[in-house]
Order: sequence, then C-alpha cells, then structure tokens
Amino acid sequence: MNTLRYAIIGTGMMGQEHLRNLALVNQTQTWKTEVVALIDPDETMRNEAADLAHSLGFNSAITYSQLSTVPMDNIDAFVIVSPNFTHHQVITELLPTGKAILAEKPVCTKLEHCQDLLQRLEGYPAAFWVAMEYRYMPPTARFIERLATGEIGQVRMLTIKEHRYPFLEKIGDWNRFSDNTGGTLVEKCCHHFDLMRLLTGSEPLRVFASGGMDVNHLDERYNGKTPDILDNALVIVDFENGVRASLELCMFADGAEPQEQLTAIGDKGKLDAYIPGPDRFWPEAGERHSRVVLSPRDQSAPVVDIVEVDPTLAAAGDHHGSTFYQHIQFGQAVLHNGAVEVSAQDGVIAVQMGAAAQESIRTGQAVDMKSFLMNASR
Ligand SMILES: NC(=O)c1ccc[n+]([C@@H]2O[C@H](COP(=O)([O-])OP(=O)(O)OC[C@H]3O[C@@H](n4cnc5c(N)ncnc54)[C@H](O)[C@@H]3O)[C@@H](O)[C@H]2O)c1
Repeated sequence: MNTLRYAIIGTGMMGQEHLRNLALVNQTQTWKTEVVALIDPDETMRNEAADLAHSLGFNSAITYSQLSTVPMDNIDAFVIVSPNFTHHQVITELLPTGKAILAEKPVCTKLEHCQDLLQRLEGYPAAFWVAMEYRYMPPTARFIERLATGEIGQVRMLTIKEHRYPFLEKIGDWNRFSDNTGGTLVEKCCHHFDLMRLLTGSEPLRVFASGGMDVNHLDERYNGKTPDILDNALVIVDFENGVRASLELCMFADGAEPQEQLTAIGDKGKLDAYIPGPDRFWPEAGERHSRVVLSPRDQSAPVVDIVEVDPTLAAAGDHHGSTFYQHIQFGQAVLHNGAVEVSAQDGVIAVQMGAAAQESIRTGQAVDMKSFLMNASR
C-alpha cells in the first residue's frame, strides 16, 4: 500500500486544516494521500470542504451528511474533527471497522467516556492516535529535543503560558458551553497537560487551579443562555517525579507576543521557547520568529536559537506546520506499523488532568488525581 485513503469526519475550521495538510503530504512524500469521504451534517460546510478538496486535487472526495451512510471498504484512515462532544460516539461507531483513526483532541469530554474508550481500544488492530498538534509545532519540537539533551540538567520546574485571542466562533456555537467542550481546561488545555507529561516524563499527582470567565462572552446569549467557559486560569500540577508545573491561560490577550511560552528550569540552567500566534491574525506584523533560548546558570550570555517555519506549512493552518508533521508520523504508523506517538492513554490522561483542574476551580481545593479518578469510576 502506497496510498492512504482518508475520510474526514467534521469539515469545519480544523477539518479544512487537515485537508490542506494532507494535500501537502501528498506533494512532498514518497507515499500518497487521497481524500475519499467528507462527512458533515452541515450542508454549507461539507460543500465548502468539497470545493477545497477538489481544488487541492482530491478529486474523488464525496460528501456525506452522516457517517452511517459512508461505504467503509475504500477507506484506510479516519480523521475525527467533529465537535468535542461527538468524539466518543463517533469513535464508538468506527471501532467495528478496525481501521486507523486520528482523533482530534480532546479524545472525549467526560470521565466515564475516558474509561470506556480505554477498555474498548484494548487490542485495537490498527493505529489509534490522538491529535495533539502542540507537540509537533517546530519550536515545541525543538524545545523537547533540547530538553532531552540534558543541557539544563535535571528539570525541576516547568511553566507553560498561553496568552491569546478568545475562542473563535464555531458552527452552531458548540464551543460556548462546557457541556459540549468538556470545559476550557479540557478543551484547550488538554494540549498543555499533554505537553507537561511529555516534558516531565512523569504522571500528575495533584492539581490545584483557579479560573473564571471574567472578560469574554459575558454579553453573549445562545437560546437565552450565557456561555459558561473559562477565559482565564492558573493551574499548578505536582508530578510524581517531584517536578512542579504550572499553566497560565489568558484568552483576552489578543495582541500578545509571544502567544505561548514554555519554560523549563533545571539545576544547570533554563530553557525557554517563545512561540508567536498564527500569522493570519497579525497580517501587518511582518516576520515573527519562534525562538528557543538557553540561559545557563553560569551567567554566560543566553544563547538564542531561531526556529524557522516553512511559510507554505505555516499558511496551511494555525499551528506552525504541526498538522503536516503529525500527518507524516500518523501516515508512517498506518503504512509501516510505525509508533503511535500520542496514544489513547495519552489523550485520556490529558482529559483527566483538565477535568481535575475544573474540579479544583469548582471546589477551591487541590485535587488528588488518584482519589478523583477513583470517585469518578464509582
Ligand atoms: N488540535 C488543535 O490544535 C485543534 C484546533 C482546532 C480545533 N480542534 C478540534 O477539532 C474539532 C473541530 O473543531 P473546529 O474548530 O473545526 O470546529 P468547527 O465548528 O469549525 O467544525 C466542526 C464541524 O463538525 C461538524 N459536525 C457536527 N457534528 C458532527 C458529526 N456528528 N459528524 C461529523 N461532523 C459533525 C459541524 O457541522 C462543523 O462543520 C474539535 O474537537 C476541536 O477541539 C483541534
């Protein structure tokens, strides 16, 4: 097999980013990608995606309003890009096919679904991969690589900051309510919790958080209801190996530069990654580069490493080309039994950490992960 035939389930903003990146994979790799099915209940979105797919050379892409009507025989891999609250149901529907699945984060929105998915996926015969694009952004990938060299010694503290624009508008406004998204710390911050686990190489012991919806969405009403999603939060996580990690999220910082900052401090030095937001929101800003900066403890000057992002890849989405790099790895996993780099377990733990942080905000107490998950499974 040298061609992978994909079905895209959900053809909104992110579904179309996947389409553009699958086309780039097709143009740059020795193996080929084809998109054969575009599934979306919204007629406007599926027609828009069909036009895009055809313009990208995916001439066999056919649209469907429902997954149940799609012929499965000619599909090798599914990409789930429907709203968060649909993921568990869509995955459940796909499992009998035994085919490869790339499921957008968060893999599910409810704790009971986390356990259920892990059980059902045990022994799954094909690649099941949770899409965590933040891992694959070139500056983040460089940061991960550099940490692994041990140049800052043993990491003791880790800080992730994201200061950005508010949640964008979505089809049917599904992202305005926690019941649909899992809550901001699940929906958006599962990325950050996934990175924390990856960077510390450890598992979370306890989580303490404070947050609220203080600026955005206050005047919005949907069927008479006010949104209930956090727009800012601080989260502290203690890890089993003693590393202390924190997350600072602010979603009313539209002009922030950089948008994200990763900081790891070890016994020999400090490493930072500075990551600008997507170019399309700053058309006038000119060139903005991601940087990884090493500040050694011996106080010799900081060493700045500029991380270039291929402009074609950057233009294909909002994630510095990460969707492209992730598709290459996912494709290798499907074609050549390559490693699944973001497993169902990774996706589930990131959701559980987000849910624990939401619980901490609700109760004002630190949440012990073990007891939290044990209570949830009763
Ligand atoms: N990894 C990332 O960085 C990243 C970034 C953005 C979005 N996402 C994830 O991608 C998913 C989609 O987000 P989006 O921004 O594209 O939202 P969107 O609202 O723009 O698009 C979602 C689309 O799914 C369709 N849809 C609804 N129910 C469906 C169903 N049962 N089956 C098929 N399609 C269905 C909607 O009609 C809509 O067109 C979400 O899970 C979101 O969390 C991930």
